[in-house]
Amino acid sequence: MGSLPSRDNKESFVRDMFNSIAGRYDLMNTMMTLGMDRSWRRFTVRRSGLKPGGYGLDVCCGTGMLTMEQAKAAGPEGRVVGLDFSENMLAVAKENLKDFHLKDNISLVQGNAMALPFGDNTFDCVTVGWGLRNVPDVMTAVREMARVVKPGGMVVSLDMAQPGIPVFKQFYWLFFRRVIPAMGRVWAGNKGAYNYLHDSAREFPPQEELVRIFAMGGLSGTCYHNLAGGVVAVVEGQKI
Ligand SMILES: C[S@@+](CC[C@H](N)C(=O)[O-])C[C@H]1O[C@@H](n2cnc3c(N)ncnc32)[C@H](O)[C@@H]1O
Repeated sequence: MGSLPSRDNKESFVRDMFNSIAGRYDLMNTMMTLGMDRSWRRFTVRRSGLKPGGYGLDVCCGTGMLTMEQAKAAGPEGRVVGLDFSENMLAVAKENLKDFHLKDNISLVQGNAMALPFGDNTFDCVTVGWGLRNVPDVMTAVREMARVVKPGGMVVSLDMAQPGIPVFKQFYWLFFRRVIPAMGRVWAGNKGAYNYLHDSAREFPPQEELVRIFAMGGLSGTCYHNLAGGVVAVVEGQKI
């Protein structure tokens, strides 16, 4: 896959890439998903089991969209932390939070998913949206999320997946390989970033394998839910 960096270079490549597309990220996301990303995030937070008054962590929070969904579930008495290593994505998140009614309950932290700057058993739930595909080692990131969630808490990932329906899946990958990079060139001024999106989605472990990685990372009751015909999947597990 031509656009993929080596494992050693992945962090700096990914960070530079998100820094460069931060200003257009939300628009591109809405266009690529035909606006379905909002309902997928809501479903992810429902699966996290976050309750009013709870304390949630959103890893790889980017522009803060999933973080805000968590904050809505946690309500006025809750607290949520969004963590990302891209300063430009966090700057957009800060801007997005300005008019959000629960903004005072959200803290944005610059940090690395591979070594979360939080103690063991800290959060009631941990979510990660389109983040695991971007880290250099998925198992390390899953172990980190399992470490910081409290016993009984859920770890939930929303990410690209491998659709299984014949014909649909061929059209999907063709659209993804040809149309999305062209959209990226026009609207985000960065075709390379959207070539990476296709190549990283192709390489990312399919949902069945991610479930096994969650289990090996120390989580129980691991399972996945396909959304939009398996174009994306929500993978979850509980810390016992
Ligand atoms: C595709 S965006 C997803 C943003 C957001 N979760 C959403 O729902 O739209 C991926 C984000 O992961 C962040 N990221 C990638 N690798 C990371 C790492 N090792 N540590 C922290 N953030 C990381 C990137 O900076 C980027 O903001």
